[in-house]
Amino acid sequence: MSYNLLMNSPFILENHTEYKEWRDLKLSHYPIQKNKLIFKFDDNIVDEKVLNLFKSAINDYNFAIYEFRSEVLDKKLLNFCATLGLTNSVSNLFSDQDNISNITNQGEKEKLTSKGEYIPYTNKQLNWHTDGYYYPINSAIKSFLLHCVCPAKEGGENLLMDHEIIYIHIRDHNPDFIDVLMQNNVMEIPSNKNIKGSKNISGPVFYVDEKNFLNMRFTSRQQNIIWKKNDMIKKIKKFIFEFVNEDKKYLFKLLLKKNQGYIANNVLHKRENYIDGDKKRLLKRLRFSNRLG
Ligand SMILES: [Fe+2]
Repeated sequence: MSYNLLMNSPFILENHTEYKEWRDLKLSHYPIQKNKLIFKFDDNIVDEKVLNLFKSAINDYNFAIYEFRSEVLDKKLLNFCATLGLTNSVSNLFSDQDNISNITNQGEKEKLTSKGEYIPYTNKQLNWHTDGYYYPINSAIKSFLLHCVCPAKEGGENLLMDHEIIYIHIRDHNPDFIDVLMQNNVMEIPSNKNIKGSKNISGPVFYVDEKNFLNMRFTSRQQNIIWKKNDMIKKIKKFIFEFVNEDKKYLFKLLLKKNQGYIANNVLHKRENYIDGDKKRLLKRLRFSNRLG
């Protein structure tokens, strides 16, 4: 379901002029100049000017990278998010009292527990997805922060692709693909045995929310997912994977350093596998039900 789609929304397939205008503006920000997307913040006072530039980058790309000079404690991370208007954090099975998830390789010790079953808590590759794709759209994850406390010895690179760019790429190729991807029952996630009362969740891949922003729900997982039976689905998935795996212009690769992180309006992303050093790779994640911008 899309809410209150405005008459002049660029996301109505018939609105060619509005779409072209929105599309051309979006594409004008590419190719990405990496240095334009990394913002250094002072440790104690978050500079208003830098903050505005950071927000403006998120407006253009749906993600941006921040960097602090020294260690960032949880409280400061929460304050930083609050300064940006990200206050509606969302908990999950493994988050702490501040809704922060400590993403680290659980290794052998947790293999038999539910936490060890989740790829994020291993050192394996985490394939393309948007966060919370298994939630219904009325309780969607609209943005998230990923903060690096300790990088891996090797690997663990993050790959990001703005979901609006993917939308453009698909629509320019075949608007009928978009029509299918916006259907309310195109992707179904069966109930989760680890969550009491969990139900099957059905929803679109792309949808427009109540504030007229475009959102994406997507996972590359092959199991525990039921795609609607439609002749086009196979072609669409192939088209998406070819784009995200082969594109050079719109794809952003990022190896987070200590005290660096990024905030994203839930763009499509992926993590490469990694090898821990003496100290384990540790990333902190916060998810929000509102977005930035
Ligand atoms: Fe993720």
